[in-house]
Amino acid sequence: SKPNHVNIVEVGPRDGLQNEKSVIPPEVKIDLINRLGRAGMDIVEAGSFVSPKWVPQMAGTAEVISHMERLPGHRYPVLVPNLKGLELLLGLLAKHPSSSTTPPLTDEIAVFTAATDAFTKANTNCTIAESLARLEPVTRKALDHGLRVRGYVSVVITCPYTGKVDYKKVKEVARALLDMGCYEVSLGDTVGTGNPTSVREMLETVMGGADGLPPAKLAGHFHDTFGTAVANVMTALDMGIRTVDTAVGGLGGCPYSPGATGNVATEDVMYALQGSKYSYPGDLRAMVDIGAWISDRLNRQNASRAGKAILAK
Ligand code: HMG
Ligand code: MG
Repeated sequence: SKPNHVNIVEVGPRDGLQNEKSVIPPEVKIDLINRLGRAGMDIVEAGSFVSPKWVPQMAGTAEVISHMERLPGHRYPVLVPNLKGLELLLGLLAKHPSSSTTPPLTDEIAVFTAATDAFTKANTNCTIAESLARLEPVTRKALDHGLRVRGYVSVVITCPYTGKVDYKKVKEVARALLDMGCYEVSLGDTVGTGNPTSVREMLETVMGGADGLPPAKLAGHFHDTFGTAVANVMTALDMGIRTVDTAVGGLGGCPYSPGATGNVATEDVMYALQGSKYSYPGDLRAMVDIGAWISDRLNRQNASRAGKAILAK
């Protein structure tokens, strides 16, 4: 692909909704995914096959991915935390076989761990080492079934439980995920404390040295708690990264990261890239409308600054 094309992973239907307190009907999630696809978002994270005891909001993901519109050439990854989640997904895929005219429900999963034991414990009830041991067979089995596997490392800047994170640990965990067979690892500033200086330092550690990880295998995932996420995206692009995770309307939050707010808004990133050397998928104006619609539907403030400003014009 073009060297200055920015791949956007639209995580609104997953990260964006997982932390919402009131139950969101599957029809609303399906409607959101369909609108995002039609607006040109070609990678949409559609949900999670996690324990409904841990994250009740994602319980309907099987129904969502069975009924959403799947556009040709678009990808719809889902989060999977363990073999149980993968088996549920594979069972569903077997019930909905793909054909030359019907794309598979999804061809991609995302596995996730973190750079501190404390966060990994809070999020998935195990240590980092245990989580890597748990995810290895998940990744192998998914690859054996022809699925692509993306990896996530959370708390790459700050941990809500232990504070400043050791960037060397971020590198070590990201490398373990790539070695396992993940095609890309998304680096998550879960808490959203990062700024261009700390994000640059973190990326210099992860990408630096003889054993540095290549930017083509990394993505940036910035929560916007301190209002620095757009600046952090620009920093990551400056350092050669070409994939970022964003959420329409700035939706999002992790149930195990108290106080953190949503992901960087897709609309804000698109606006920031306008007129630059970078191209991106999707239509800004269509995304602004979706951001306003879903915020209204969830009874939430629209967290996209660009979205609100464009609508106020
Ligand atoms: P556990 O309690 O240790 O696991 O949780 P367990 O095996 O003892 O299972 C507990 C119960 O859940 C059992 O049910 C299992 O059957 C069931 P029971 O026997 O009590 O009736 N169960 C499942 N059900 C459906 N699907 C499954 C599944 N697994 C077990 N896959 C576990 C361990 C990993 C399952 C749990 O901690 C979990 O699901 N955690 C997920 C947490 C999560 O989704 N967090 C948000 C996503 S990560 C994120 O937001 C960060 C990111 O955005 C990047 C960033 O911002 O940094 C990606
Ligand atoms: Mg997140």
